[in-house]
Amino acid sequence: MFITFEGIDGSGKTTQARLLVERLREAGRDVVLTREPGGSPGAEEIRALLLEGDPERWSAETELLLFTAARRDHLERLIAPALAAGKVVISDRFADSTRVYQGTRSGDLRESVDALHRLMIGREPDLTFIIDMDPEAGLARARNRGGGEARFEGFGAGLQARLRAGFLALAKEFPDRCVLVDGNRPIEDVAEDVARLTRERLP
Ligand code: TMP
Repeated sequence: MFITFEGIDGSGKTTQARLLVERLREAGRDVVLTREPGGSPGAEEIRALLLEGDPERWSAETELLLFTAARRDHLERLIAPALAAGKVVISDRFADSTRVYQGTRSGDLRESVDALHRLMIGREPDLTFIIDMDPEAGLARARNRGGGEARFEGFGAGLQARLRAGFLALAKEFPDRCVLVDGNRPIEDVAEDVARLTRERLP
């Protein structure tokens, strides 16, 4: 089973992914936790290119190609082999992030996002948690993290609000696999919902 966590910057999805992994391991499942961009050595190198340095470094189109290249490597080297070996794979972000972030940055890019996805990735998660979060609160959290990665946080609260709307629309676009979870609550409450929903769907 392939499970992904999505949401705006500072939505708490990374914490929720980690908590779900802990619970599934306690239940005896063989679980791989990974993230995007990154997750394989090559894709982690592309991550540094994408997330460090001047926020205006790449055009939306170049960015789309780099995110897709990183995903292809991640899929070939980590995700596909782990799924084939019968493991549960949990990824902190996947293709939905490209649909929303790159699709939102430049209005007419969504078609290219979908075409590239069909050509080079061609795989959807079995279950996607979209952690919904107030954009101001998310941005404040993301900025508090520090570190050298700031690409999208650098574009400010207006963009975060548009991204949130993008994720809400995505949940409607893919209702079979996407579950919207209210992230504006205590971490444990959110984790409880995520664990219950996963149990209901796991074979
Ligand atoms: P993270 O902070 O959740 O690790 O994500 C890194 C940043 O990369 C975040 O601002 C969202 C962005 N991103 C995209 O714009 N497109 C993508 O396809 C992915 C995976 C991430």
